[in-house]
Amino acid sequence: MTYKILVTGGAGYIGSHTTLALLEAGYEVVVLDNLCNSSPESLLRVARICGKAPLFIQGDIRDHALLDELFISQRISAVLHFAGLKSVGESVRKPLDYYDNNVAGSVTLCQAMAHAGVFNLVFSSSATVYGEPTQMPIREDFPTGVPTNPYGRSKLMVEDLLQDLAKSDPRWSIALLRYFNPVGAHQSGLIGEDPNGLPNNLLPYVSQVAIGKLKQLSVFGADYPTLDGTGVRDYIHVQDLADGHLSALRTILQKTGVNIWNLGTGIGYSVLEMIRAFEQASGRAVPYKLVERRPGDIAECWADPTKAANELDWKAKRGLPEMMADTWRWQAANPQGYGR
Ligand code: NAD
Ligand code: UFG
Repeated sequence: MTYKILVTGGAGYIGSHTTLALLEAGYEVVVLDNLCNSSPESLLRVARICGKAPLFIQGDIRDHALLDELFISQRISAVLHFAGLKSVGESVRKPLDYYDNNVAGSVTLCQAMAHAGVFNLVFSSSATVYGEPTQMPIREDFPTGVPTNPYGRSKLMVEDLLQDLAKSDPRWSIALLRYFNPVGAHQSGLIGEDPNGLPNNLLPYVSQVAIGKLKQLSVFGADYPTLDGTGVRDYIHVQDLADGHLSALRTILQKTGVNIWNLGTGIGYSVLEMIRAFEQASGRAVPYKLVERRPGDIAECWADPTKAANELDWKAKRGLPEMMADTWRWQAANPQGYGR
């Protein structure tokens, strides 16, 4: 049987890589995206890579009528829910946009799913829900923390509402995937991350410095209690992340209830290690200066990926050199991203 999967936010960074992985694995895919942070070009490129295209519907997850119509016209088996806003700084300036898109949007989506009798959902959560854990590596049974910004709170609110939903109706089967730090791009160099304006995240910033679009990287904090004083994170290749979604999807199609899985590698790298690895992969210098800590940042954060390995039969396979080489290939071939 061929399953048809609805991918919200499927034109975006992680959604486009996962759409590609789904098509390659033989699923039919419907993408719903309002293109507020993406370009339809990403899906054209997906089709170029695999010779198959998803059905693309330009629209908003907050649009009740559109969702009802979509679920009537398409026989959807499960939803991978990526759509949402993701900039921490912007969420502080525009909290209502974040609660509206991320929380109200998820409520509308779940209402339409329940109405249509579709109960399988994979949600893009984040390691940010752990707050500032006192112990590393982070396991799924650690208590959720107090996120320091509206973006983080919106993710935790959606996790909580999905837990409540599953308690209220045993037909729901929900995966809460807590991503660590997604980086990299498809090895073809055709799809990748295309941030709007000045990048907030480390790797997009580093690659724009390497290509000469930005002058210098600011390293936020060199006085953390880490090996070299800079922040440590668990960077995971976006294709490993996409594969993790396919494993989670296969698993939730066979069970019910809520399952939480960390998607990370289990290895932490510092900002300075990342810079060196990127310089090596690209052959370009990445000038940087050490500056003050960025408010809200934590010293270190990496996953214990054992639960996903045991229950999903999934492990991140790609190491740092591949993450860097693929990021650079995408950046060098597409200096203006998708040219939005
Ligand atoms: P992205 O911005 O590239 O993709 C999100 C997509 O959703 C975009 O294409 C955007 O146009 C679309 N979208 C936003 N609001 C929408 C709405 N109301 N209706 C329809 N479409 C809408 O981001 P990404 O990096 O691919 O992240 C995907 C998901 O993963 C997000 O929910 C994000 O919060 C979560 N996540 C991302 C990271 C990360 O570092 N990239 C880390 C943890 C969690
Ligand atoms: N950093 C710099 N300079 C920069 C950007 C980042 O030094 O210009 C440092 C940060 O201080 C941190 C590391 O690089 O130590 C990684 O920072 P990112 O902004 O790339 O990622 P974060 O870990 O801060 O945040 C990411 C996502 C969030 C998510 C969080 C936890 O961007 O959406 O992981 O999952 F909430």
